[in-house]
Amino acid sequence: MISQKSILEIIETAKIEDIVGDFVALKKRGVNLIGLCPFHNEKSPSFNVNPTRNIFKCFGCGKGGDSVNFLMEHESLSYPDALRYIADKYKIEIEETKPSAEQQASMLEGESLFIINQYASKFYTDQLFQTDIGKSVGLSYFKQRGFREETIHKFNLGFSSAERDGFTRKAVKDGYNIELLRKVGLTTANDNDFFRNRVIFPIHSLSGKFAAFAGRILTSEASGPKYLNSPESEIYNKSKTLYGLFHAKQAIRKHDECMLVEGYTDVISLHQGGIENVVASSGTSLTVDQIRLIKRYTQNVLIIYDGDLAGIKAALRGIELIVEQDANVKIVLLPDRHDPDSFFKEKGHTQFLEFIQANKKDFLLFRLDLASREIAGDPIKKTAFIREIVQTLAKIPDSIKRSVYVKETALQLDIDERIIIGETNKLLVKSISEKKNNELPSSKSKEDDLLADDGTAIYPEQKPAPQNHLVQEKDLVRVLIKFGDKIFEEETSLTVANYIVNNIQDVLENFDSKLYHQIITESMSRLQSNEPLNPDYFLKHTNEDIRQEAIEVFTEPFTYSDNWKKPLQTQKLPDENFKNDSIRVVRMLKYRKFARVCSEMKNKLKEGQPGIEEETKFIKMNMKLQELKAEMGETLNIVVFD
Ligand code: GTP
Ligand code: MN
Repeated sequence: MISQKSILEIIETAKIEDIVGDFVALKKRGVNLIGLCPFHNEKSPSFNVNPTRNIFKCFGCGKGGDSVNFLMEHESLSYPDALRYIADKYKIEIEETKPSAEQQASMLEGESLFIINQYASKFYTDQLFQTDIGKSVGLSYFKQRGFREETIHKFNLGFSSAERDGFTRKAVKDGYNIELLRKVGLTTANDNDFFRNRVIFPIHSLSGKFAAFAGRILTSEASGPKYLNSPESEIYNKSKTLYGLFHAKQAIRKHDECMLVEGYTDVISLHQGGIENVVASSGTSLTVDQIRLIKRYTQNVLIIYDGDLAGIKAALRGIELIVEQDANVKIVLLPDRHDPDSFFKEKGHTQFLEFIQANKKDFLLFRLDLASREIAGDPIKKTAFIREIVQTLAKIPDSIKRSVYVKETALQLDIDERIIIGETNKLLVKSISEKKNNELPSSKSKEDDLLADDGTAIYPEQKPAPQNHLVQEKDLVRVLIKFGDKIFEEETSLTVANYIVNNIQDVLENFDSKLYHQIITESMSRLQSNEPLNPDYFLKHTNEDIRQEAIEVFTEPFTYSDNWKKPLQTQKLPDENFKNDSIRVVRMLKYRKFARVCSEMKNKLKEGQPGIEEETKFIKMNMKLQELKAEMGETLNIVVFD
């Protein structure tokens, strides 16, 4: 066990920006660093790293903690493993204290199983590269499949000969405990080798340790199943493992998409071909735990399966689970008799990706498409299908997305939308009441907010928005210039400028005034390069217009803008009120921008047949607007009118 003294040393040495920085691209923002949160999906950064306090905090999903917490969460390490990781990084020598015999037994077993597997993997790769039989049978098999040597090394592929107990005898001779060899599944109850005459695919844990093995048969004449897998053990839980995830996780994060294939060889082939964001479900149907694993890295799952009936069925089996976990699912079926491995070999990198791009379908459209051929002209089949698809629809947690899909389903099946809505709602009500029995009581179900009485999604009406927002933009810039360097939030030492700039990212491109837009973008880059942003900077600016703006701010008497008609009773003097002021100017501006974008989008939607993406975007924007409206009404106690 790691001594208390070492634990302290490790925690004190760990620099949060180093630890996080190995996994997340961070940018300086004042004294802090910010980046895209690795724990939830986001487009603009709300993940904050505070080097002074040595902590991280995401203002989007709420996750926070120190270096150890980060590693435990991000790399799914145990507490001691996270400590060891840090010690290793900073070359800290760990002082070990003796654990009790009991502790030792339970603690060490998991670790020793990993150690045994590591030994086994080395044995199998040695067999592959250094024995005659390994080279002539195993290595030539891999070569003939097109695997390059670096790929074979990267995935630690190996070979086991047909010998009855060659591995077991050597392992025991080298001091490995036979009990543990059996436990981890490398040795059978009769003390024979479990894997014989097979090529070996190690299955890595998330942190790259050897959790299990799969052995593929070499010839079709040989007896036994095509693949043999290590049995489940303390270190290998099949339903919580995705083949290839260890090698894919960085790429998945980078591309914000995870490709899901069926086979070990598919993963390796694509990886070798430069498509690294691929994992395999290993031929079994997907589990919720596997999807949760993917969701740590991305929301977007692309299922790539064989185009035969079995492939289609397998693809459909996974879908509902993914949908239920609120991930975005697309599907692409490969031409008949192809799997990703063979298809990639035939087409090459570019054409493979092009095919996928051109043929990937939204899961629901895919399913509707598939069904429409089958149910054409058969009302009984159609009814059955509606019941089936409604089950899936009801599982979409995001009610906005759900209502869009409901519309699409009605359209495709050519039936009244209200029927689909009615059926979906029945199931929703059922699942909500089931959930209520299991969970803490929630104040109000989310569904109530988004569905009107008849079950249709609520599309709020927009009043025409004013032509331009110069007043609001000026107001925002005024607060930025005047109070930019003041501390907005003690805990994170976030400044007013940080707050403003962070919060208007999503409307930045909609600015009406070139000058104000320039002031904001300039401020942004100064914050990023950690340069001061104080009144003096603006007052002494080389740009005449900016200087004028600043001078005006400091000479004009303070005025409330049009919507600030009913100040809070407890309001402080204007100059001390900069926090409320910052919140207000940001909200006012965003409100105007959202409203305008919404009404523009709405007009566009009226003209053409919108796609699901467009429509979802619109509804999302509209929801943002409604949320903001509610927020403003509630917290600022003002009447909002437009
Ligand atoms: P190749 O045929 O060598 O290209 O292998 P593959 O990985 O493409 O296999 P296939 O498409 O036949 O099967 C997909 C996945 O299902 C495999 O990678 C395995 O994970 C799993 N699988 C296939 N056959 C078996 C089997 O007999 N036993 C077990 N346990 N899993 C299997
Ligand atoms: Mn294959």
